[in-house]
Amino acid sequence: MPKKLLVKLFNELNTGIKTPKHPYRYACLASVSEQIPIQRMVVVRNINDNSITIYTDSRTKKVTDFIKNTNASLLFYNYEQMKQIQLKGSISVETNVNSELWDTISEKAQRDYTTNLAPGTEINHPKDVAYQKEYIHFCKLTFTFSKIDYLEIKRPNHIRASFRLENNVWDGNFIVP
Ligand SMILES: Cc1cc2nc3c(=O)[nH]c(=O)nc-3n(C[C@H](O)[C@H](O)[C@H](O)COP(=O)(O)O)c2cc1C
Repeated sequence: MPKKLLVKLFNELNTGIKTPKHPYRYACLASVSEQIPIQRMVVVRNINDNSITIYTDSRTKKVTDFIKNTNASLLFYNYEQMKQIQLKGSISVETNVNSELWDTISEKAQRDYTTNLAPGTEINHPKDVAYQKEYIHFCKLTFTFSKIDYLEIKRPNHIRASFRLENNVWDGNFIVP
């Protein structure tokens, strides 16, 4: 089990997610809709062990998808170091978010969750978006992962490893890249 690599990976994720503009602050989140994968970028708000928090609008397609099918994948890519981290797990949707969490978000960012019309609604011009004051559509997604696929592109040998969480213990191996 490549333990040092796992510890390093978690350290880099923890630091990156909390660092503004770091590549790990953003990830590609995949849901499954009628057996078809759909991906989109999200901001990763927090990580705690194998649990990652994402904020969204409860009217988005991804929320509909995750309510029907909790399977999810989150892809991180550090383009400066050519490191890829694929996480596999499931998402739980929390729509009744308390006002304390809402108050931790900047006013500018709060606007993203308060459009009058639901995200995805057709409009004539990008300016045609009005905002509400309340946070009724603000929604928290919790992604819990139990599988990690890590790949680092480097010479002379690429490094790839696979990890899985079983009975609360991570186990894993190097694998062929
Ligand atoms: C850099 C970047 C960060 C984003 N962060 C978020 C986010 O944190 N939450 C979110 O719901 N959408 C975020 N989006 C928008 C989503 O990618 C997506 O367009 C939107 O959530 C609607 O997705 P859906 O219709 O597939 O649910 C972000 C987009 C970009 C380009």
